[in-house]
Amino acid sequence: MTFKNTYEDDAYASAYAKLEFPGSYYLAFRDLPELLSRHVEGRRALDFGCGTGRSTRFLAKLGFDAVGVDISEEMVRRARAFDSSGDYRLVADGETFRFDDEAFDLVLAAFTFDNIPTKEKKVALFSKLAGVLRTNGRIVSLVSAPEIYWNEWASFTTKNFPENRQAKCGDQVRIIVTALEDKRPAVDIIWPDTNYREVYQESGLEVVEIHKPLGRTDEPHEWVSETTIAPWVIYVLGKP
Ligand SMILES: C[S@@+](CC[C@H](N)C(=O)[O-])C[C@H]1O[C@@H](n2cnc3c(N)ncnc32)[C@H](O)[C@@H]1O
Repeated sequence: MTFKNTYEDDAYASAYAKLEFPGSYYLAFRDLPELLSRHVEGRRALDFGCGTGRSTRFLAKLGFDAVGVDISEEMVRRARAFDSSGDYRLVADGETFRFDDEAFDLVLAAFTFDNIPTKEKKVALFSKLAGVLRTNGRIVSLVSAPEIYWNEWASFTTKNFPENRQAKCGDQVRIIVTALEDKRPAVDIIWPDTNYREVYQESGLEVVEIHKPLGRTDEPHEWVSETTIAPWVIYVLGKP
């Protein structure tokens, strides 16, 4: 089945641009400052799949000199409109990056690989990301856990898509972001942990740490499944 990037759509991009860090998204970013301060030396960062710039601005607030790249013209346009002093670049899908080898201390891919359909494509892109990462640099690959697609969450619903439960690695799955004003489902690609590990290995990357953030009962969020099931998986990767 052909795969269409949900984010190359003007109305969806417009709604996404208003999304900050509600509910389940808070959990995706909550532990990143601590992980980054422990693993990353240096300030040069590439935000791969920057979308409307939320993750790029997050890095900038932590003191990184961040460049955002994305294949969606609709998303990049909004990132630039929101933050005219930021560096946001539209790239062709799979294009060889126009960055020097080892140009970055950190590459962040926040939810980007949820939208990249095949193993070949994931390996090709991670290999390129490894190329622009300096020796001892870190790639932080923040992806959706498969469980996100068959549970209910503070910011997502999947109950209308029971077929997600039968999905296998590489299949398309649907999820609605309840925090968005555009309630059309986003179409993602499901990719379990074992298969991500294969991708990293074939891309010449090693897993340095895996973090699965869980919600805490003392947090000011109405957690649904988040206190017992982590919706996200954060892989910290390096070059061996
Ligand atoms: C769910 S959005 C996340 C945006 C942003 N990282 C954030 O946290 O808000 C995923 C983004 O990845 C982008 N993307 C998908 N495939 C890509 C590719 N091959 N190269 C670069 N960006 C890609 C999409 O266009 C979309 O903007």
